Amino acid sequence: MGTCLWILMLMVSQVSPYRRPAEDSPCRVHQDDVDCSSLSLRRVPAPLPSSIRLLDLSQNLLQNLTLQDLPSRSSLRRLDLHHNQIQFLQPGLFRDLLHLEDLDLSGNALDLYAALHTPLGPLPALRRLDLSGNGLFTDMSDYFLSDAPALTNLSLDGNSITKISRTTFNGSQALQNIDLHNNVIIEIEEGAFEFLTELSELDLSVNSISCITDFNLVQLRTLNLSRNSLTNFQSLDMEDEFQLQHLDLRENKLLYFPVLPQRNRLMYLDLSRNLLRSVNCSGPLEELESLRESGYLLTAHDKPLTLCANERQQELGRLLYLDLSFNQLKTLSSSFFSSMAALESLNISNNCLQSFSVDSLRSLKTLDLSFNNLQNLSFSGGALPALEVLLLQGNALHLLDAHIFSSLPSIRSLHLQQNLLSICADPQISSGCVHLSDIPSLTYLYLSENSLSSIPDGAFKGSPLLILDLSLNPGVDITAASLSGVETSLTHLSLRGNQLHSLSIDFRVFQKLRSLDVSVNRLSGVSPWSEDSSVEILNLQNNRVEALGSALLQGRLRTLYVGWNPLSCCRNPQLLDLLQQERLHVPDLAAATCWYSGDVEQVEVSVSAALPELCSSADSRVLWVSLMVALALGLALVLTVSLKLCHSRKHRFKRGFKA
Ligand SMILES: *[C@@H]1O[C@H](CO)[C@@H](O)[C@H](O)[C@H]1NC(C)=O
Ligand SMILES: *[C@@H]1O[C@H](CO)[C@@H](O)[C@H](O)[C@H]1NC(C)=O
Ligand SMILES: *[C@@H]1O[C@H](CO)[C@@H](O)[C@H](O)[C@H]1NC(C)=O
Ligand SMILES: *[C@@H]1O[C@H](CO)[C@@H](O)[C@H](O)[C@H]1NC(C)=O
Ligand SMILES: *[C@@H]1O[C@H](CO)[C@@H](O)[C@H](O)[C@H]1NC(C)=O
Ligand SMILES: *[C@@H]1O[C@H](CO)[C@@H](O)[C@H](O)[C@H]1NC(C)=O
Ligand SMILES: *[C@@H]1O[C@H](CO)[C@@H](O)[C@H](O)[C@H]1NC(C)=O
Repeated sequence: MGTCLWILMLMVSQVSPYRRPAEDSPCRVHQDDVDCSSLSLRRVPAPLPSSIRLLDLSQNLLQNLTLQDLPSRSSLRRLDLHHNQIQFLQPGLFRDLLHLEDLDLSGNALDLYAALHTPLGPLPALRRLDLSGNGLFTDMSDYFLSDAPALTNLSLDGNSITKISRTTFNGSQALQNIDLHNNVIIEIEEGAFEFLTELSELDLSVNSISCITDFNLVQLRTLNLSRNSLTNFQSLDMEDEFQLQHLDLRENKLLYFPVLPQRNRLMYLDLSRNLLRSVNCSGPLEELESLRESGYLLTAHDKPLTLCANERQQELGRLLYLDLSFNQLKTLSSSFFSSMAALESLNISNNCLQSFSVDSLRSLKTLDLSFNNLQNLSFSGGALPALEVLLLQGNALHLLDAHIFSSLPSIRSLHLQQNLLSICADPQISSGCVHLSDIPSLTYLYLSENSLSSIPDGAFKGSPLLILDLSLNPGVDITAASLSGVETSLTHLSLRGNQLHSLSIDFRVFQKLRSLDVSVNRLSGVSPWSEDSSVEILNLQNNRVEALGSALLQGRLRTLYVGWNPLSCCRNPQLLDLLQQERLHVPDLAAATCWYSGDVEQVEVSVSAALPELCSSADSRVLWVSLMVALALGLALVLTVSLKLCHSRKHRFKRGFKA
């Protein structure tokens, strides 16, 4: 009981000391937080209580900050000054703010302050400092960092720094995270980061660094060098274990695989969008010499490039993610992967590989080999036991081992579009085609644009497909039994653009089919169809459909595409009612037209303008009525246009008067 009372009293006393800044202060106050952001302030409102913990002065018009502006010896912890026009800070301004941990000065004009060459003075407790977007160039950051012993996180993002010197971080030796993204750094002096023993994250992305020849930051966990001009990345040959886990070298000009630390913990390596021609970490000596002579390879301090012996297999036993996409790889020996026992995701898309083989990547889940020039592909038995997603689209695959996909026990998603494959009919046949039946894990299958000539009966039997894309195989022969075996699993089927004249598939037995795309064919309809069909989205666009059976429009159908068909409104008088049902969405209704046969030619009228009279009447009347309709429409158009014109002219006159 006593305790309760005590808590109650404590609560009262916490709430009740009712403090506010001066009566006329425009700031919002919540407990010890004062929010003065976005008030077009030119001065810091005074007086501020000394119990203040957070002061937000962001997005104002402050230019100068002096000792009088801030509550000295206060308990201020966070000060947000981002997006003002600050160009002057009184030296020693933060000396007495012994609790200030977080200072955001981003988006100001502190280059003007730095031009005074006066150190800002001590930042005794500061842990986080944001100086991004201040137009600072080389050495200017020194004036802010000269005495920041507790600083752990620093952002210098979006400045104009060209060089990191040995002294840059001398006054801030507790740094753990430095963000130098988006500067113009071309040089990093030797020893600039080495003494920062706590440094774990360094972001140097979007700079102009051309080469790293002696990487020795053993303490670093994450290094981002993406979007520089690196032609070369070499680690120093050291016995120490490097902590590096994430290395991002995306979008550089690397010609050779980086020389990684001998003992590393690398988990994530992004080498996409470089100029890799092989995964050797150096080329033949002559080639290097010629590159160097042509000025293409610049090495810092004119150090010789250490050739990594190709025998020295780089150990990458913890690597989970490797991205080599958008390079110029022609070959990739399977021994390259031999140390990568943990690799889960491998992306080699958009290279020039003609063949690919692996012996064993036991943890690999995703393999992207799309958009190469692959003709040969081989996985030795059981090489990829965990592979779930295989992307092979945009290659020239034609003759593969017939059982190549059945040998992948975990395969879930197969992207085979834009190749030249054919599907085996008979389980016995094993040349010139691939088996896609009896793969019990396979649920997504994409076979668009393979010039398939036929889908054999039961081609996918025993593979529990959810999504099947057979589009853009013009002339493909699909029989009633082609899809037998997947009736109970299939939810999405695309047969778009196959030049189909008829479709003998019995859609009544597809119990889970939700989306069916038969657009861009020559079909007059889809049947047999059940009245309680599960299909929700049906695409009939661009076919030869004249009539829509009412069965088709029942069931669960919600969305129907029916444009670009020669619909006959006379043959189905209730068509319009059906298409305009409340529950049915016809996104291309504007392109749905009714065709009436006239004396000389067919007359086309938008479905929404169709009238029953058009059918019953003589042909000439049909012509006449549709002419009237056209005339009326034309008139309406002319009227709207002229109205618009008048209107805009009026406006112009008005403006003319004002001027
Ligand atoms: C800020 O300080 C500079 C230099 O001390 C001075 O020239 C300028 O007038 C001051 N501006 C304001 C708004 O106080
Ligand atoms: C770096 O700081 C230390 C003290 O922390 C000082 O002794 C040394 O002279 C400084 N070095 C440079 C190059 O400024
Ligand atoms: C500060 O840096 C550390 C180490 O890189 C990081 O884990 C942490 O999220 C950063 N904190 C802030 C507020 O950015
Ligand atoms: C590296 O920096 C780029 C550009 O800022 C960013 O897109 C990317 O996500 C970063 N990489 C990592 C691994 O954080
Ligand atoms: C890569 O190294 C292997 C083995 O030393 C060599 O046969 C091959 O020619 C090299 N490839 C390139 C592109 O330098
Ligand atoms: C592979 O890289 C390409 C290009 O960067 C990207 O579009 C694709 O999504 C990646 N593949 C996977 C499976 O992440
Ligand atoms: C593909 O493999 C066949 C035999 O397996 C071979 O004759 C052919 O040269 C290989 N093609 C390529 C491009 O490696």
